[in-house]
Amino acid sequence: MSTEHELASHVKKVFIEQFGQNPILIKAPGRINIIGEHTDYNNGFVLPAATNQAIYIAIAKAENSHSTLISLDLNQTHIFDINELVISKNKLWANYILGVLAEVKNAGHKLHNIHMVFSGDVPRGSGMSSSAALECGTCFGINEIFDLKINKLDMVKMSQMAEHNFVGVMCGIMDQFASTMGKQSHAMLLDCKTLDYNYFPISMEDYMIVLCNSNVSHSLADSEYNTRRLQCEDGVKKLKRFYPEIKSLRDVSLDQLKDKKSALSEVVFKRCKYIIEENVRVLAMTRAMEKADFEMIGNLLKSAHYGMQYEYEITCPEIDFMAAFANDRTDVLGARMMGGGFGGCTINFVKRGAEDQFIKEMNEAYKAQFSKETTPIKVIISDGVRRINV
Ligand code: GLA
Repeated sequence: MSTEHELASHVKKVFIEQFGQNPILIKAPGRINIIGEHTDYNNGFVLPAATNQAIYIAIAKAENSHSTLISLDLNQTHIFDINELVISKNKLWANYILGVLAEVKNAGHKLHNIHMVFSGDVPRGSGMSSSAALECGTCFGINEIFDLKINKLDMVKMSQMAEHNFVGVMCGIMDQFASTMGKQSHAMLLDCKTLDYNYFPISMEDYMIVLCNSNVSHSLADSEYNTRRLQCEDGVKKLKRFYPEIKSLRDVSLDQLKDKKSALSEVVFKRCKYIIEENVRVLAMTRAMEKADFEMIGNLLKSAHYGMQYEYEITCPEIDFMAAFANDRTDVLGARMMGGGFGGCTINFVKRGAEDQFIKEMNEAYKAQFSKETTPIKVIISDGVRRINV
C-alpha cells in the first residue's frame, strides 16, 4: 500500500470515529528548493518544487458549536470557537491553522466551526516546509468545504500572512507558493517581485535529487531568520541614500553594493552580497539545467553553500560537514543546505545509479562524526495541494 493511501485512510478513519461524519481529504505537499535561499523576502528569484512528502488532512464543517483540530503525529487536540480565534501559547502547531482561519475571516469570508484531523510524512524542522504544507492544506480545505471561491494566489498570500501574524516568522512567499502551485516533474522559477512564474521541467535522467536530513533543528532558527530579514532591510535603507530608485536588494547590482561598502556594517555588507549573488545563481541555474551543463549545476550549488556558510551565516556544523562530504565526491554534481537554515536537509544532485552508495557512505561518515543518523529522501516532484480520495 502506498504511503499516500495509508496516511489518507488513517486520517479519514480517525475522523469518522471521532466525529461520525464523512470528511473531504486534502493532500498538501512539502517543498524542495533547488536554489535561491532567503531571496524571496528580498524580492528575488527562487526555484522550488512540491514534493511527494505531504500533510494529509481530513476536514469537514462541524455540526456543533466548537472546532476541533487533531494532530495525529503529535497526539494532541486543540478545541476552539471559530468566532474567537486567538494565538495558542502551548500548542504552537495549532497556530498555523488558526492563523489561516483568521486571515480568511479578515478577508471578509464567513466561516463556521470545523473539525480537522491530520498526519503527514514531511519531516518537521527539516527545511521541507511542513508548516507551509499545513497552512496551504488548511486554506485549500476550508475553501472547499465552505465553497469560498478563493483563487490560488490569494490562498498562497493568506497562508504566508498566517505565518507572519500567528506564528511570528516573517517568511517570504516561496514555501506557500510551492505547496499550492507545484506541478509534477517541474520546478517553478518564481520572481518574488512580480509573482510571475514559469514551470521548469526537471529531467531526472542523468541525476537524482537526494535530500539528506541532518535531523538537527535549532531553536534559534526563527529568531535568526527574522534578524536576517532586518539586516537586509537595513542594507536597503542605507543604500537608498545613494540610489533612491532602489526598493529592495533585487534592484541593487554587485558593483553598486561594492561601491558603497563603507556605508554598511561588515555584517550587513556580507548579507547583501550573498543575496545579490544568490539571485544571479538562480538564473544561472535555469540556464545550466536547460543546457544540461552538469559542471555549472555543481558549481552553483557549491557556491550557494559557501555563501550560506560564510556570508549569510545560516548553516551549522552538521550541515557544513554533510555538504563538504558530498561536494568532495565524484558521483555528486553538487550539494548545499536547503531551506531557512540552522539544520534541516542538504540537497544533493547525485549521479543516477550512485544514489544508494552515496546514501550509505554519507550515513556512515555522519554517524562517525556526530553519533547520529542522517535520513535520506529520494525526491519525487509532485503536484501542489489538491483533493484526493481513498
Ligand atoms: C523558509 C521561509 C521561506 C524562505 C526560506 C529560505 O523556508 O519560509 O520563505 O525564505 O526559508 O529560502
